[in-house]
Parts: sequence; C-alpha cells; structure tokens
Amino acid sequence: MCGIVGYIGSKPAQPLILEGLKRLEYRGYDSAGIACMDNGKITVVKKAGRVANLEAELAKTGPLKGTIGMAHTRWATHGGVTDANAHPHRDDKAGIAVIHNGIIENYSVLKTYLQDKGHVFKSDTDTEVLAMLIGELYSPSEGVDLEAAVQAALREVTGAYAICVMCEGEPDTMVVARKGAPLIVGIGAGEYVVASDASAIVAHTTQAFPLDDYNVVKITRSGFRTSTTTNANVTPKVMQLEMDLEQIELGRFEHFMQKEIHEQPKAVRDCFRGRLHKEDGKVILGGLSNFAKELVRARRVVLVGQGTALHAAMIGEYMLEDLAKVPACAEYASEFRYRNPIIEDRTVAIAVSQSGETADTLAALHEARDRGALALGVVNVVGSTIARDTDAGVYLRVGPEIGVASTKAFTGQVAVLTLISLFMARRRVMSADQCARWIEQLESIPEKIERILEQDARIRKVTERYVERDNWLFLGRGYNYPTALEGALKLKEISYIHAEGMPAAEMKHGPIALINDGMPAVFIANRGRQYDKVLSNIAEVRARGGHVIAVATEGDDDIRRHVEDVLYVPEIIEPLSPMLTVIPLQLMAYHAAVIRGHDVDKPRNLAKSVTVE
Ligand code: G6P
Repeated sequence: MCGIVGYIGSKPAQPLILEGLKRLEYRGYDSAGIACMDNGKITVVKKAGRVANLEAELAKTGPLKGTIGMAHTRWATHGGVTDANAHPHRDDKAGIAVIHNGIIENYSVLKTYLQDKGHVFKSDTDTEVLAMLIGELYSPSEGVDLEAAVQAALREVTGAYAICVMCEGEPDTMVVARKGAPLIVGIGAGEYVVASDASAIVAHTTQAFPLDDYNVVKITRSGFRTSTTTNANVTPKVMQLEMDLEQIELGRFEHFMQKEIHEQPKAVRDCFRGRLHKEDGKVILGGLSNFAKELVRARRVVLVGQGTALHAAMIGEYMLEDLAKVPACAEYASEFRYRNPIIEDRTVAIAVSQSGETADTLAALHEARDRGALALGVVNVVGSTIARDTDAGVYLRVGPEIGVASTKAFTGQVAVLTLISLFMARRRVMSADQCARWIEQLESIPEKIERILEQDARIRKVTERYVERDNWLFLGRGYNYPTALEGALKLKEISYIHAEGMPAAEMKHGPIALINDGMPAVFIANRGRQYDKVLSNIAEVRARGGHVIAVATEGDDDIRRHVEDVLYVPEIIEPLSPMLTVIPLQLMAYHAAVIRGHDVDKPRNLAKSVTVE
C-alpha cells in the first residue's frame, strides 16, 4: 500500500527521499509525490504513475532544494489515480503539507465542517481534509504550534493513519504520527529518516523506533519528542533494525520474486536454526516457552490470515489436527472479525502474516483476544504491529520479502506452523522418538528445495507450452489442496491469467464445465494417501480435452502415461510435501509473467501490505 519517507538533517533531502521511495515501490502504488522545504517555503511535485514519472517531472522543474522533505507513494482509496489526488496535500491557509497512509473514516463530516469555514478543496482525498484541519487548528499566536495542531486534529479523526507533516511557519520541524498503519523513525547522527517500512531507512541508520498507536513525534535536527495525541509524554523503545542492504538488493537476480524463490533453501534453514533438537526429540521455540502450559491444554486453535498467509494457515490447520490432535480451523481474517465468532475457553488464536500489518488479520486477532483467546503471531517482520500486539509468537526469520507475490514467506509460514504443531504434539501425544523422525524429515527440506530449483530451466520450458492460455485450473487434495490455491493465486497475481484453485474432488461439482480442448490443469499428484483418487481426477480432466501438468514424486515414472507434462519433487512425508510442491508452482507463475512481459515485482493493482480493510 502507500509508502512514506521523510528526512530532516543536513543533506539535500530530495535524492535521499527519492531513493527511499524507490525502495518502497514494491509495496504497490499508483502515484508518487514529494515536498521539500527551503527557506520556509514548501514546494510540492506529484504525478500519477510510477516514481519514474515523478523523476521526469522533477527533471523538468529542476531539483527541489532543502534539507527537510517528504515523499509518498499512493495506492488509491478515496478518489481516482490523478495528479491532484496524489500526496503531499496542502492546506489553503497555514502552509501545511501532509502525506498519509490509511483512511480517515469521518473525512466527509470534517470536510463539510471545513467547507463551511470557507476552505476550498482541490482533491477528492481524505488526506487533504486532514491537511486543512491541521491548518485550521494551527495558531502559533495562541500557543498552538505544529505539534499541538497535529495532536488536536488527530483527536478529531477516526480511522487509520501514518502521517508526516511539515509547516512553512516551522521550517526546522517535522511531525509524524501513527494509528493503525506502520511508521518508523530512524535515528542518524544529526539527522532522522522516517518511513513506513524499514527498507527505506537501513541505508542510513539501523537505530530506530516504531511508533505505537496514537503516538506523535516532533522531530528537529537536534532531537525529538514523543507524545500521545493527548500530549502525554511517551518513552520510545529504540531498537536495532535487523536488516542489511544486501537483503533488499537484487544482486544477480532480475526480479525480487525470482531472488526470493531461490532463497528458499536458506530461508528454511534460517527458520529451523536452533529450533530443531533431534537428539532430545524436541522442538524449541523461545517465543512460546512461557505459554507451553496453555498450548498443552488448548481445546481449539483458530488460524487467521489473508491471501498467501491464509493458504499457509490452512496447511497449519491440517497439521495441528494430524500431529497435535487439537481441533483447528483456518479462516479469512476479514470474515472472522465480523461474524461474531464463538471463542470457547482455552482457545488459541494464531495470526499468520508476512508483514505483520494486514489490517484484517490484526483486527481478527484483537477480536479473538478480546474474547479470551491466547493470541499468537506467526509473522516475518520483526517489531511489526501484529508481532507487538500478540501474547507470544514465532518469527519466520526468512529475511525481508520484497516481491509482492509472496514466496519464501509461504514456505516460512508452513515451516513455522509445522514447528508449532510439533511443539504442541510433543507435549500432548507424540513420543521423543516420533518427534526425532519428524525432525529428520524437516532437516532434509532445504536440500530438497535446492534440487527442485535446479529444474528451473525445464519448468520454464513447460510453462512456455501453456502460457498463451487464459484459463487454468490448479487441483490438489489433502495437504496439497491449499497448495493448489496458492499455485492459482501466484499465477493470477503476476501473470494476470485467470486461474482457479480447488480440492480436486470439487472439480466435478461445477468447474468441470470449464474444461475445454487444451485447457491447462495443474495437478499436485505427489505420492500420498489420496494419490489414486488424484489419478482418477486427472483422467476426468483429460477425457474432456484438458491438458494436465502434474507435480509428482521423483521415481513415479508411471504417471507420465497419464499426463501431458510432469514436474518432479523429491520424496517426503505427505504433511511436509507442500513446502516442496509449491516451488514448481511459484516458478511457473514467475516464468509465465516474465514471458507475458509483465512487471513481476510491481503487479498491477496489488499491494504488498494491505493496511486498509
Ligand atoms: C496482500 C499481498 C499478499 C499477501 C496478503 C497477506 O494481499 O499481496 O501477497 O499474502 O496481503 O499479507 P500478510 O503480510 O498478512 O502475509
């Protein structure tokens, strides 16, 4: 979604914040803008389209001067994708400029109030309302400086925001604030870099603090003050950002998605490091150790997530029931939060999220926790909102994920949910010997993923055969039903090919009507409990002219007789197979998008982190 970068220090602001803005491009956006202040005068340049459009515009106007500035990428909510609706927005009275992530829900009432006071609006956005409101309240002669005006304005708004504000009357001050959308202040030597995402900060400093909800920070070159919207002092928790530049740069790869697919062996190794103890037959998860008793006594586990994270959660549901023998169910966080769910005593809620910022997942977690559940997080981004709002959790440790289409976070989420299942199982129903055997299988995964990645060129060749087709099916059973959903989602997201994923048996109940001559159907047909049934479903598709691409187990030569193409994955016990079977599907989606000429890392309309409902 939208991205924020702000700078105050002694260096020219424009190059620094534009570079930061580029690092946020992956989050998904449709317009970009910048404001810098020089000699008490703010200049704003903004354009619909890519940051490159903004740069072209700046090349015409000449670079903006000033050592204080802010830049924004907008993902449209209120108002279309136009130059006027791009941020920053200005007020018409007090020389205020604002950039904003989130949604001001009561903007319409506030707008009428401000229009009645004579303010004239130039855009359709909720953010311009905020700029006008701050300007209306700003009154230095009455002791209401920028910090106080921002606090007062935020007391009037409902909704979510991360904002960065500048004011011509206070040329050495930047005020930032947050509620429900992430914002981090990076502390350098005599300079500060503010951003919605650590990736725009780490090139300058790794000392930083995230804002909590209702925090307002007034920053000058000589220091900062953190308060609440009601002006109570706050002591921020300064931390070290655990991210280095190499992790967020492409290196030898063409796209971040490609890089992250190939990083999966390392990502899974990092995820397992120090957590698997084969000799003792146990899994150690530091984040859960204080809650082991609650997990042993848990009556039910509810898993919530959206998109790819939900698919991982669905695998977690199977695993928790299978291994830990605890009733479990995974569902869309967006549905769970509004459906008045019944949370029985001793329920554990697990929020699964790469970013740790997805608005629906966060709200679902709050709903479960408020109803008495123990709230756990399975999150990648350290210090993110979900990670901070849970009772306990387990980080994925797969490193920053930049590609909008989630890949290594999926394998990391499935890996962590497996560890949680074993952690609970070992204390409930599983012997040390059994657990040691599981661990042995887990340890083989990184090397097995490497073997699949070696087939990259062949997977591209197979993809080439079908890439012109506009409708695909992805089918699987049991543990690989969620994998089928994930395969379809990947293809849709970046290649814009229509794809449906479903349980293979469900196909007969309607979708079979879609099958026509040559329609590609990807079957996850690895050896498992339902292998023969999957073969029957394959026959049903081929009898109607569909072309089948099977993801099968190495050594299964017989399957060649039943399908058009086979992509092999190494043998592994069935519950762990999604961490292997998903890899060829990720690569197929990647190659399909590249062959079709799409921008893999900036797919249209998508946002990496969805911080609005
Ligand atoms: C967005 C992204 C998806 C992601 C989903 C959940 O839709 O485009 O790739 O799976 O959000 O994100 P989360 O950060 O909560 O895992």
